[in-house]
Amino acid sequence: MHRRLLLAALGAAAVSLLPAARASAQGTLNLYCSVQIEWCQAIATNFQRDTGIRVNMTQRGSGETLAAIRAESQNPRGDVWFGGTGDPHLAAAEENLTQAYESPNNANLHSWALKQWQQSGKRAVGVYAGAVGFGFNTELLARKNIAPPACWADLLDPRFKGEIQIANPNSSGTAYVVIATLVQLMGEDEAFAFLRRMHPNVNAYARSGTGPIKAVARGETGVSISFVHDAVTEKNAGFPVAWATPCEGTGYEIGSMSILRGARNLAPARRFYDWALTEAAQRLGFEAGGQLQTPSNRNAPLPPNAPDLSKIRLIDYDFAKFGSAAERRRLIERWDREVGALPR
Ligand code: G6P
Repeated sequence: MHRRLLLAALGAAAVSLLPAARASAQGTLNLYCSVQIEWCQAIATNFQRDTGIRVNMTQRGSGETLAAIRAESQNPRGDVWFGGTGDPHLAAAEENLTQAYESPNNANLHSWALKQWQQSGKRAVGVYAGAVGFGFNTELLARKNIAPPACWADLLDPRFKGEIQIANPNSSGTAYVVIATLVQLMGEDEAFAFLRRMHPNVNAYARSGTGPIKAVARGETGVSISFVHDAVTEKNAGFPVAWATPCEGTGYEIGSMSILRGARNLAPARRFYDWALTEAAQRLGFEAGGQLQTPSNRNAPLPPNAPDLSKIRLIDYDFAKFGSAAERRRLIERWDREVGALPR
């Protein structure tokens, strides 16, 4: 009798343990995320709900994430890096901080997303694209009687004294894309001369790429140099924000995704990667996160009022050159010396 009771109790314990055992068998994913927090939270919640895999998400800028991955390379803590500009993902691939993967969902991607994948040795894939331009507060500029900028050259005009914000390229991938764009448009020395001449018009070099457009939305600064899709996000949130792309032409990002080398949760990481390339997951950027990039899945629609890249004068951005680790480091060090160090 005693033995029968014991067995029954053990059976019950085994049964009651089963759901918990199943849940933990789904695993955990450590997600490094370099898009806006609303989108990061939406993908973490939805992926967890769709798969039962528990997501620990850390949101940081693209440059900050690259620095963290470098610092942790002997003992990797992250599994997947979602989003952020493409150049640091290419640098991470070159530095062997990420690993190759071929998703079956590559078949549904635009050619620019696959070009990133090929160029990175299959270590980074495009998840979205977006163009650099200007965001401005229409009410603030009208009140100060300042005409908005239409060209890069306008940013040197004294009418913008103390009125412009841009991010710091050490932490922000957006700011690095701006520098690389100017170098490609003007030549390197001219581009740095331009940045030095613009300095008196800049009131702050923000930490994150979206800091400046959020400051525009709040009326703290008249103009930002930003991804133009981020300006539409602020406009949709009800702020008096408009955007323009420079008349001389502009650069763009291929927002990317990579699996980290030494990822402890490789199966969940691949599952997330496949999931993030689906049409449904890519719709989330807009539907749950209010984001307006161009999705890399060909079946995911361009969100309403999102900037249409085919109508913007884009340069032939040299991702191989400006995504190289040495070039990135060199240009950022030059910016630190020649621009970041200038007195205010
Ligand atoms: C925003 C943009 C993204 C971009 C990211 C880069 O989230 O919407 O398109 O990739 O900024 O952030 P960072 O702080 O590195 O400039």
